[in-house]
Amino acid sequence: MSKLKTQEHTPVTLSESLIGSLKEITGADNVFYDTESLEAYSHDETEDLSFPPQVVVKPDSTEQVSAILKLASAENIPVTPRGAGTGLSGGCLPLHGGIALSLERMNRILEIDTTNFICVTEPGVIVQTLQEAIEEKNLFYPVDPASRGSCFIGGNVAENSGGPRAVKYGVTKDFVLGLTAVLPNGDIIKTGGKLYKDVTGYNLTQTLVGSEGTLAVITEILLKLIPLPSLHLMLMIPFPSLEQAAKTVSAIMSAGIDPSALEFMERDAIIASREQLGTHIDYDDAAAHLLIELDGNNQDLIDERAEKIGEIAMAHEALDVLLAESKQKQEELWNIRRSLSEAVKSRSVYKEEDTVVPRDKIPELLSRIKELCARWKIASVCYGHAGDGNIHVNLLKDDLPDDVWNNGLDTMIRELFAIVVDLGGSLTGEHGVGYSQREYISIMKTPAELAIMKRVKDAFDPQGILNPGKIFPTE
Ligand code: LAC
Ligand code: ZN
Repeated sequence: MSKLKTQEHTPVTLSESLIGSLKEITGADNVFYDTESLEAYSHDETEDLSFPPQVVVKPDSTEQVSAILKLASAENIPVTPRGAGTGLSGGCLPLHGGIALSLERMNRILEIDTTNFICVTEPGVIVQTLQEAIEEKNLFYPVDPASRGSCFIGGNVAENSGGPRAVKYGVTKDFVLGLTAVLPNGDIIKTGGKLYKDVTGYNLTQTLVGSEGTLAVITEILLKLIPLPSLHLMLMIPFPSLEQAAKTVSAIMSAGIDPSALEFMERDAIIASREQLGTHIDYDDAAAHLLIELDGNNQDLIDERAEKIGEIAMAHEALDVLLAESKQKQEELWNIRRSLSEAVKSRSVYKEEDTVVPRDKIPELLSRIKELCARWKIASVCYGHAGDGNIHVNLLKDDLPDDVWNNGLDTMIRELFAIVVDLGGSLTGEHGVGYSQREYISIMKTPAELAIMKRVKDAFDPQGILNPGKIFPTE
């Protein structure tokens, strides 16, 4: 959707004394209010939305974050926490202006504890950097969203990010054992610990995971690690129809196989990637591909499972079963997969949805999406984490006249979500509600459910200064 906006509310005026106090907290070098900085911190990777803050502050410690929030709550200034700005639901957009609180300087890995299998990290560490440091110790943090080369672990925790390996290992929430966080009034809290068991009181760790920066600012994270699998094998399987590819997903899982990734990509996604990367992709005219990864420590077992997957795929009319055994070939396949989001969206003005359904409903989800899009004459490109039921649906404007696109899109999205809910699914599997989905949340949450969520928000943030405007619908 093409939208360039300024703040939703008339922004409060930031006094010179407030700017001066921010500079005292972080040092003057870490407070920015020039036009270029405000622009840079006005957007993330969600469409072309832009909501500039009035000031960008880059603290270096939990204490500095606490001092900033004390100041902001005393003066009732909105504060929007921000990681790397790779989000896909507008979670870090400063809708109400005020302070953009960037965690980018808090980028230290504090400890990799190889006895307790726990990593302690600040939020501004790039996920890939964190994973590589952990792998050097022969341990594994498997959650790897496509943006892992640039996204921050803090943003992953705030959004409860997923990615391809969720089908075997789970999502971010499954690895967070504890947090240090700063409440909107500046109070510092610690939740959980280096503990695999802990039932003392409410589980505030998991209340904060996925809270999209609306409840507290996360400044330290304790992550559970697991042993690093030593062997990987990947399969790329082209299919003549979406339906057969989708049915193969359930068949693989029903056969008791546990792939570490089971990704679906339809033809237009593959073509967009081929064009973006300028690379050759075998069977790029196939209707859909499954990209499958197997991992473990026993080569015979992996080979056996690969063979079984091949048989299942061929029984579902697969055009071929391509094996990637070398690390280089596997990286090439992951590059194709990780390029899809940007590649598909470079084609046209777009709106991206992040549907998730029980995985056995994937064939029905895909066929109903395609029917819906044909009826609305809106192009769609689907790809995603089919193994866990999470399909990204990119709706593309292409050559549609502006008025047809602008007038129809909202109703069409509501119809899409009605299908998702009918299949027992959810509006967003891993991208979050943030700004871009907030008006749709009441399609699946009842007034009672929204009211209790709002009371949680009010308990943490009675003044409503932290990341205002997110998650809850405006009306
Ligand atoms: C992906 C992002 C869009 O899976 O979630 O590529
Ligand atoms: Zn994804």
